[in-house]
Amino acid sequence: MAHFNDNDKSSANSRALKVYVETYGCQMNLADSEIVLSIMNKSGYVPTEVLEDADVVLLNTCSIREHAEEKIHQRLHTIRKELNAKPELVVGVLGCMAERLRTKLMEKHKVDVVVGPDDYRRLPQLVEGAFSGVQGIGVRLSRTETYDDVIPFRAEGVSAWLSVMRGCDKFCTFCVVPFTRGRERSRTLSSVVKEVEGLVKRGFREVTLLGQNVNSYLDGTRDFADLLNSVADVDPTLRVRFTTSHPQDLSDKLIDTIAGIPNLCKYIHLPVQSGSDRILKAMNRTYTRSEYLDLVSRIRTKIPDVSLSTDIIVAFPTEAEQDHKETLSLMAEVKYDGAYMFKYSPREGTPAFNLGDDVSDKVKTDRLNEIISLQQRISFDLNQKVIGKTVDVMVDGHSKRSDAQLSGRTSSNKTVVFPAGAFRPGDIVNVRIIRASSATLFGEVVTRVN
Ligand code: 5AD
Ligand code: SF4
Repeated sequence: MAHFNDNDKSSANSRALKVYVETYGCQMNLADSEIVLSIMNKSGYVPTEVLEDADVVLLNTCSIREHAEEKIHQRLHTIRKELNAKPELVVGVLGCMAERLRTKLMEKHKVDVVVGPDDYRRLPQLVEGAFSGVQGIGVRLSRTETYDDVIPFRAEGVSAWLSVMRGCDKFCTFCVVPFTRGRERSRTLSSVVKEVEGLVKRGFREVTLLGQNVNSYLDGTRDFADLLNSVADVDPTLRVRFTTSHPQDLSDKLIDTIAGIPNLCKYIHLPVQSGSDRILKAMNRTYTRSEYLDLVSRIRTKIPDVSLSTDIIVAFPTEAEQDHKETLSLMAEVKYDGAYMFKYSPREGTPAFNLGDDVSDKVKTDRLNEIISLQQRISFDLNQKVIGKTVDVMVDGHSKRSDAQLSGRTSSNKTVVFPAGAFRPGDIVNVRIIRASSATLFGEVVTRVN
């Protein structure tokens, strides 16, 4: 019979060990957690969704802003407290914070393993060492690792994330990603297509191709437009999405591809970060305001029903009121369907860190509130224009508020809530929109499509 000695982590080896992963940050991390579960599963660990049942607890972390890191520090603190009664538990930190803070995490939280985004193949070995009381660290960055051959461990569902490239070579001056995730590299086109074929066979109805700079994907001579073409071809009824696009790599070929293929969703997340040329330059974004606006108008000419969203940072070092006004005017000009908006957060080791953090927190908050309320007005107005129209909605599941309502998304990624009928996740339903807020469209079912 299995016997546990509270002070000896190795004794836990006598039955199938359970691994629990908690994921923070971007969708890349969600996809990485599924890769981690697959790697651990191959070594005999059984995934669990119940923290209390776990022998190994892994937090897949984010470093993008200080606030994201603070959340993890607190979580590590509570996990240790909650699980004090289980000293045999192995606790690990994965992802960007592991890469950035390394042994500091071990000093601060007594975690057993610290493994960065390119070293997950070593995780089982490092965890095994931790069961014998040896702390493990794996933070080597790789120029080639894409986990191309690892089939992610996915629960059943209709929507899947698929990372197709890793890393970032853009070096925006505010961003830690090039340091925590290393250089850009792409998976092979054939393995991505094979994975998508497998997902379709399992009943998935939507895939989102992921990369920090997904449109700089390159497999030999085949670029991101070629990849989208091949993935869309796997099944013409499969919805294909992608994120995140850097404006510099959004080629005309890519725009034509999105315009021409019906099952490629008409939604582009195109972070602008700022509307001021001076700030864009200081951020090393590699485009000017007018180049960006020109790109938006080329996209809208070729894909008239496209929906656009963006990321904006307020109060980058030296940002003056005039720069901020230019961001507001760019937002008013583009009229994004949605935006993710952030206060600048200084990250040690990035070039912008040396510029200081000269905008006061009060001004940061005011500017953030100003762009949030502008965006809400814009989203509200755009959504009012959909009232009376009929849209194709793929069902995600019950709405957050009520089981009598279903929630789904349009090709343009707008959330639609409508009365529940006999529909299942993955079904596509025609819904006539009768009411809209800034975040949600509300409608009634016209017909089922698929
Ligand atoms: N401070 C605030 N926001 C940041 N982002 C990246 N780095 C920082 C930072 N240091 C934002 C950018 C990016 C998104 C993922 O996070 O807007 O597009
Ligand atoms: Fe960071 Fe810029 Fe790369 Fe995006 S493009 S991950 S913001 S460095």
